[in-house]
Amino acid sequence: MAEPGPHDDLLVYQNGDFVPWRDATVHVFSPALKYGAAVFEGVRGYWSKDRECMVLFRLQDHMRRMEISQRILRFETVVSAEEMEAAVIELVRRNGFRESVHIRPTAYLGGDGEASVRGPVESVITAIRRGTHKIAETGCRAQISSWERISDRVMPGRAKAVGNYNNSRLAGIQAKVDGYDTALLLNRAGKIAEGPSMCFFMVRDGVPVTSSITSDILESITRDTVITLLRDELGLETEEREIDRSELFMAEEAFFCGTGWEVTPVIDVDGAPIGNGEVGPIVKRLQQAYLDIVTGVREDARGWLTEVEI
Ligand SMILES: Cc1ncc(COP(=O)(O)O)c(C=O)c1O
Repeated sequence: MAEPGPHDDLLVYQNGDFVPWRDATVHVFSPALKYGAAVFEGVRGYWSKDRECMVLFRLQDHMRRMEISQRILRFETVVSAEEMEAAVIELVRRNGFRESVHIRPTAYLGGDGEASVRGPVESVITAIRRGTHKIAETGCRAQISSWERISDRVMPGRAKAVGNYNNSRLAGIQAKVDGYDTALLLNRAGKIAEGPSMCFFMVRDGVPVTSSITSDILESITRDTVITLLRDELGLETEEREIDRSELFMAEEAFFCGTGWEVTPVIDVDGAPIGNGEVGPIVKRLQQAYLDIVTGVREDARGWLTEVEI
């Protein structure tokens, strides 16, 4: 009998059913296990005190990206955005969350014996309790990884494909072993790509700059959110372009962003401080704006929130 785990009380969605955590399984002979043939999303949900309900951030955008990821991976059928969206909402409701959660919808090639590398397509969704990383307050120290970010000619980094994440995993492990908090990966051209699960921004001469979407990055939903908030809330237009490694020495501020990492300052790269090595004023204002939007404190003028009554 396995040791009790932290999520044993939770329900999981799998192929149309809501099942106990321990009963959600995939066969050892599935292409999901054999080839990492699966795509996923990370979605955040927050408890809104003001609205007395859970609010899910940019759920439709995540589910749309998951459809695209399935097409890029050449799945024989596609689990639709609408189907997954409804299942996510129902899972959050059935688990009765009243706190921050991380939701992970996955579409994968299941089955137990077919020789097909394109199906059968199945789906699963987990939702677990997860608050904000402590490091979002203090800032993180990043290492330029000796692992290169997968290039578009090797693997489709634009798809949120499970197999891609060995690249992230190895870079993250190397950074931790070497005493850093996380990694910053360069692409084949030697330009800054992104972190293991987050996009990168720096501020130079007061101007936010982020790696272009053709720099071998995931087309991040938080990156889009941040560009919008910097423009609308802080009055700053972001430059999307290639970033050289040596520019990090000239930046006043830097930060990572992603669904899981939210907005996390980078205070140091390879032991060299960014700016004065402290969390800067732009990133602080941005963090507050981001938090107010995702938790439903501010009015949702852009239609980014999905409310779930518990
Ligand atoms: C490789 C990678 N880059 C960037 C991000 C940020 O993407 P998003 O803002 O859509 O969560 C993620 C996911 O969180 C990721 O896995």
